[in-house]
Amino acid sequence: MLKRIGIVTSGGDSPGMNPAIRAIVRTGISLGVEVVGIQNGYQGIFDKEFMPLGSVEVSGRIRDAGTILSTSRCPKFKEAAAQIEAIEILKKENVQGLLVLGGDGSLAGAAALSRHGLRVLGLPCSIDNDIPDTELCIGTDTCLNTVIHLIDMVKATAASHNRCFIIEVMGRKQGYLALMSAIASGSQVAVIPEFRYDLDKIIDNLTRRRLRRHNNSVVVVAEGVCSGQDFMNRLISTAGTRLEQEVRLTVLGHVQRGGSPSFADRYLASRMGEYAMLAFNQGEHGSMVGVVRNRMNMTDLQTLTGRRPPLPADAIRLARNLGMEIGVPSET
Ligand code: ADP
Ligand code: F6P
Repeated sequence: MLKRIGIVTSGGDSPGMNPAIRAIVRTGISLGVEVVGIQNGYQGIFDKEFMPLGSVEVSGRIRDAGTILSTSRCPKFKEAAAQIEAIEILKKENVQGLLVLGGDGSLAGAAALSRHGLRVLGLPCSIDNDIPDTELCIGTDTCLNTVIHLIDMVKATAASHNRCFIIEVMGRKQGYLALMSAIASGSQVAVIPEFRYDLDKIIDNLTRRRLRRHNNSVVVVAEGVCSGQDFMNRLISTAGTRLEQEVRLTVLGHVQRGGSPSFADRYLASRMGEYAMLAFNQGEHGSMVGVVRNRMNMTDLQTLTGRRPPLPADAIRLARNLGMEIGVPSET
């Protein structure tokens, strides 16, 4: 049985962090476990920015993107000395364990704390969906909904002006956001880090579409491949006069992280938050909560480093059968 635990949100914020914090706090209240919020990511431990979290602090925040605890990147946390110092500070604050909400970097920090003896559980929060052993991260679904909404809006003007649009989406080294948003927005091309693209094939795809009297097209480029600007320059210089269409670029940027959490994210975050708190109170630690085949799942934090989830095979097949140009796997 735990008496007092901490929660920290770290790295890039993702929509759903607040519903997760809320579920942890409310489950803590049911169990009689006091929950302390650490502000501004791991840096908040060194700055001793601790705030008690009760029902009032989390009330009404389920609909808010971002994190009520604020987040940051804290480079010094990669050093063992800083991790050990953080554990000493938490001990002095009578914090018996820490729930870490963040992406792969933050979870690497959680794994390090666990190796140094702190009781830790991680919750995967990332728009990029780049964490293994969970089919979805908290925040990915909302981000995808935002991206397809924005592409729909671009398509309206693309159709009016007979243009081809390049849309740069986030995702770090992972092509998940680009591939899934391209499928769900009816885009023609997805350029993703996992696959090698062929500009001639892309130009052929866009040209065939124009010959079928579709007057607009959308190419979704994952930031992990190159900037949308670089891709557009390469496309235009390779195509010469072949495209017969004006090309424009839209870089979606940080609005992708700002959507009010979708139903799927509110539910996933609430489930993961509750499950983590219950498991933590029963003695589980050193693990990350995930969702596999719609069931909660625990993975050893130490096994996450250096692994990336593969792109879903059925999404790749689907994209191809829908006529999208996505290239071929990079390793072939
Ligand atoms: P995210 O968690 O969204 O992937 P980052 O990769 O920027 O974001 O990581 C967030 C923070 O997690 C970093 O600023 C650092 O404090 C901590 N962190 C990242 N990588 C490690 C690591 N290998 N060991 C310990 N802490 C790390
Ligand atoms: O990891 C989430 C993410 O939004 C990535 O998709 C993106 O590359 C990065 O964070 C942007 O980081 P920052 O907010 O520091 O610019």
